[in-house]
Amino acid sequence: MGNNVLTWILVICMVSSASGEGCSLVLKPSRVVVGFGESVSVSCEATRPVHVLGWESVIGASYTHENRSVQWKVDSLIDWIEEPICYGVFFTAPRQCEEKLNLVLFKTPDRVSIRHMNHSGPMVEGKEYELLCEVQNIAPVQYLTLRWYRGQTEVYTHSFVDSPSSSPAQVSSTLVITPTKSENEAEYKCVAELELGPEGPQPPPSVTSEPLIASVHFPPTILSPETEVLNLTMGNEITLNCTATGNPAPVYTWQSLHPMQEKMMDEAVVTSSSLLPGTYTCTASNLLDQKSKQFIVKAKTKGI
Ligand SMILES: *[C@@H]1O[C@H](CO)[C@@H](O)[C@H](O)[C@H]1NC(C)=O
Ligand SMILES: *[C@@H]1O[C@H](CO)[C@@H](O)[C@H](O)[C@H]1NC(C)=O
Ligand SMILES: *[C@@H]1O[C@H](CO)[C@@H](O)[C@H](O)[C@H]1NC(C)=O
Ligand SMILES: *[C@@H]1O[C@H](CO)[C@@H](O)[C@H](O)[C@H]1NC(C)=O
Repeated sequence: MGNNVLTWILVICMVSSASGEGCSLVLKPSRVVVGFGESVSVSCEATRPVHVLGWESVIGASYTHENRSVQWKVDSLIDWIEEPICYGVFFTAPRQCEEKLNLVLFKTPDRVSIRHMNHSGPMVEGKEYELLCEVQNIAPVQYLTLRWYRGQTEVYTHSFVDSPSSSPAQVSSTLVITPTKSENEAEYKCVAELELGPEGPQPPPSVTSEPLIASVHFPPTILSPETEVLNLTMGNEITLNCTATGNPAPVYTWQSLHPMQEKMMDEAVVTSSSLLPGTYTCTASNLLDQKSKQFIVKAKTKGI
């Protein structure tokens, strides 16, 4: 049993010696990152005398006799080919070996878009929603990182390292959000970035979606909700302040035993010098909820 394992290790070592260092073939550069439609040229050099040296590839295949250098050259690479292989046939053992080029052909996406999944119109504070980011025609997906932003803040990063495809593909990412009222009008964006390594373009090429502006509905909140007691003094104005936040903007109504001037009836703030003593109730409402506040206006007390 133990011997078997040892034998296998030996066999594996002998097989692997046919490439790598023992292969006597050096690719310059050993890794190339090429943009779709760009030119590429890689030389394969033998470190010992060689009979035949060549490139095996669907595009740009070539070979030389008794020349220690051969080039793989394509003026405009637009085909999603297998990685080219440089092979050498030598006079001495190991007689034959090959070296695969680490080739990355990339394409920035045609379009990156962001939208609501299964929802339209404004969101409601505290409920869960899904946003969808779609990236069209990008390659290779395994180098893609999708970053989600709310304003300037990165909120989620989606990596696609496990994706096998090297030819252009469409990919998407979803973001689950539970918006708060402070996120009303927030801008969501997603950025598709191709991180191709040190041989790739710097900074990494990226495409950003148009922003999606969140509209978050939330119920009214009266800024100073406690009941207010106000003293009337002859000739002075008093202010009843019912200002509330809310989306959609709250609508105000006032109730009192006394008739109020009609123009005041739908204001957030009522300022008057002619209010009669009594209780005034204001209601701020929108389609989600309504909130009320009371003002108790007291008659002028006889001064000391
Ligand atoms: C070897 O190949 C290179 C180009 O790949 C060429 O410039 C050179 O002349 C060749 N040498 C011989 C001896 O054929
Ligand atoms: C979309 O919403 C409908 C009803 O609101 C639901 O039946 C459906 O499963 C949802 N689809 C997805 C993909 O979430
Ligand atoms: C209103 O008058 C009462 C007593 O008459 C006093 O205690 C209270 O502080 C006054 N309120 C204001 C806002 O002036
Ligand atoms: C009403 O009250 C709010 C909060 O207390 C304040 O910000 C606003 O300036 C007030 N408006 C007026 C007209 O007094």
